Amino acid sequence: MECISDLWMVIFSPFAKLLFMRIAIYPGSFDPLTNGHLDVVQRAAKLFDQVIVAVAKNEDKRPLFTLKQRYELVKQAVQHLPNVEADMFDGLLVAYVEKRAGQAVIRGLRAVSDFEFEFQMALMNRKLNERIETIFMMPKDTYTFLSSRIVKEIARLGGDVGAFVPVHVQAALAIKLKKI
Ligand code: PNS
Repeated sequence: MECISDLWMVIFSPFAKLLFMRIAIYPGSFDPLTNGHLDVVQRAAKLFDQVIVAVAKNEDKRPLFTLKQRYELVKQAVQHLPNVEADMFDGLLVAYVEKRAGQAVIRGLRAVSDFEFEFQMALMNRKLNERIETIFMMPKDTYTFLSSRIVKEIARLGGDVGAFVPVHVQAALAIKLKKI
């Protein structure tokens, strides 16, 4: 009898594991990914079995980097984290979360100024899909002033963004803005 239950465990435990995996989706424009984003990814990776960093197409925001470029920059930044993957999505976030069987959406909260937009988005996403929870995470305090927009502005004006983004993102910014 014990032997049968052991066999059952061997056969079904990988499936059970997959079934009960806690998956979080971390969506954003990531134009480009900053050290603040990466800090949130690393924190989320400790709490969830799998974290999917989902780069939104978001053409309305007229991004500096193409969707594919933003995705590649994220992919390279998270390659050392075994339970983190990069992906791209277009359309409704809640539809994407369903497609990837996610339970939660991760968003970084830096300051009170982020709150209103994030609150609206979280509640709207809840209206669209009750099952999906939004979880807010605070990046390290040294990154609270950081945003992709400010990083792009500094890079555009010839400032050093080395402390704010991973090295490969800094290189991509230099190429994009022809600062090399
Ligand atoms: O990094 P950002 O620009 O603040 O990310 C915003 C993002 C991509 C998370 C948000 O615009 C989004 O979820 N876009 C997908 C379209 C969607 O679902 N819109 C309704 C949100 S309530």
